[in-house]
Amino acid sequence: MLSILVKNLYLSCDPYMRSRMSKSQGSYTPGSPIAGLAVAKVLDSGHSSFKKGDLVWGGTEWEEYSIINAPETLIKIEHTDVPLSYYTGILVGNVNLKLGSYNSRRFKAAPHLSTQEQQFSSQMEQVQNKQIILKDYVNGFPKESDMLITSSTIHLSLPEGSNAVLLKNLYLSCDPYMRGRMSESKGSYVDSFTPGSPIEGLGVAKVVDSTHSNFKKGDLVWGGTRWEEYCIINDPQILFKIQDTDVPLSYYTGILGMPGMTAYVGFYEICAPKKGEYVFVSAAAGAVGQLVGQFAKLSGCYVVGSAGTKEKVDLLKSKFGFDEAFNYKEERDLEAALKRYFPDGIDIYFENVGGKMLEAVLPNMRFNGRISACGMISQYNEQGDGVRNLVHIVTKSLRMQGFIVSHYFPMYPKYMEMIMPLIKQGKICYIEDVVEGLESAPAALVGLFSGRNVGKQVVVVARE
Ligand SMILES: NC(=O)c1ccc[n+]([C@@H]2O[C@H](COP(=O)([O-])OP(=O)(O)OC[C@H]3O[C@@H](n4cnc5c(N)ncnc54)[C@H](OP(=O)(O)O)[C@@H]3O)[C@@H](O)[C@H]2O)c1
Repeated sequence: MLSILVKNLYLSCDPYMRSRMSKSQGSYTPGSPIAGLAVAKVLDSGHSSFKKGDLVWGGTEWEEYSIINAPETLIKIEHTDVPLSYYTGILVGNVNLKLGSYNSRRFKAAPHLSTQEQQFSSQMEQVQNKQIILKDYVNGFPKESDMLITSSTIHLSLPEGSNAVLLKNLYLSCDPYMRGRMSESKGSYVDSFTPGSPIEGLGVAKVVDSTHSNFKKGDLVWGGTRWEEYCIINDPQILFKIQDTDVPLSYYTGILGMPGMTAYVGFYEICAPKKGEYVFVSAAAGAVGQLVGQFAKLSGCYVVGSAGTKEKVDLLKSKFGFDEAFNYKEERDLEAALKRYFPDGIDIYFENVGGKMLEAVLPNMRFNGRISACGMISQYNEQGDGVRNLVHIVTKSLRMQGFIVSHYFPMYPKYMEMIMPLIKQGKICYIEDVVEGLESAPAALVGLFSGRNVGKQVVVVARE
């Protein structure tokens, strides 16, 4: 832990702050405390250069208490026989030299505790809390180096009067939609991540403390959490309580969680499959695709999947029961490949990939075919080529429908009623690609975009 906890004493109002209020490199993050210069007292320190009681001046935030994750930007106050407030003015010298290395957008304290929580925090025993932080917005393909493994401290009790849950994260989910959140928001359906704060995502967790009436200590939950060992959720409506624990808990990141619901909604609700129909699934060996293929077989359909390695193609046929499968990376002509597997055409296309694959599918669709536009991962990091033959949608009376799974979460209990018996009776299987340790999460997330994962990508933070 390299952070320190400070109590702010004097804040400085400086003209340069005006420019940080406009949108530009180094601007403030709307919704977060203003960052500026101040005089402060160290209340707790995990950094060898500072100890409790030290007086400092430098970059902090406009709040009563702040956690500073980069305390090297602070200067220790040696002379206290002058008014302390002078360190916001006459005793500061050239502040810009220090500002260059302090940017609250990138090194913001996290988790972001309220003042009340911080007051409480200073009185209680702390534990270290490893976190994965997004350094800054990402362009193009994400890299491990876009994320930072860091550590802060957290108390394992919540302050009275809060309405929150404190979670210990067990399993974290790596999902393709997270790539969109790494970009600066441009009207997306989900907010961007906040650079300098822990990555947000779905996971399975245990409630360590709760001041919310719906949750109690020991409850297991899945839903929205953050990429850190422990986290405080002030909005626990985003969590589902786990009732059934005689299946692997990690399944709640996959088959029993968001990807499972996605396969269910995208296949049954959007495509309304009929026995004997011809189904094609792209990214078929992933978290969603492997289920769509099995649902198609359970519905009496003929199903073919595409994937990017021989290992995945073999799995599709030997494990998930696809009738056929092919490696799209080895096909020079995707349209011809699909013609080979579907001489009579495709009734249902479960679209995970977009771009060239969609262009190859359209001429192979049958009259009145349905396309479930679940995702288009080939376009998450680069725009790619346009689809030039959309006219097939007209001439073949195709229906192509997109969906966002969270809009269908009220159907979750219905899905559980269907899927749980299938798992327990061994009629459906689920493959996970499990990596150990929070520090493995950046590589696991990045790997989704090169097809490194075989099955649902899960990160184990703790097993209980
Ligand atoms: N609509 C919704 O609400 C919703 C919810 C969840 C997921 N989704 C979407 O569903 C799709 C599958 O998600 P998932 O969680 O199951 O992921 P996944 O399939 O487990 O992992 C992503 C896979 O996509 C393939 N891929 C990556 N880049 C590609 C490219 N440029 N071209 C072709 N294939 C590429 C890779 O497999 P290969 O080896 O086959 O290349 C990779 O393993 C994604 O598009 C995702 O955004 C949508």
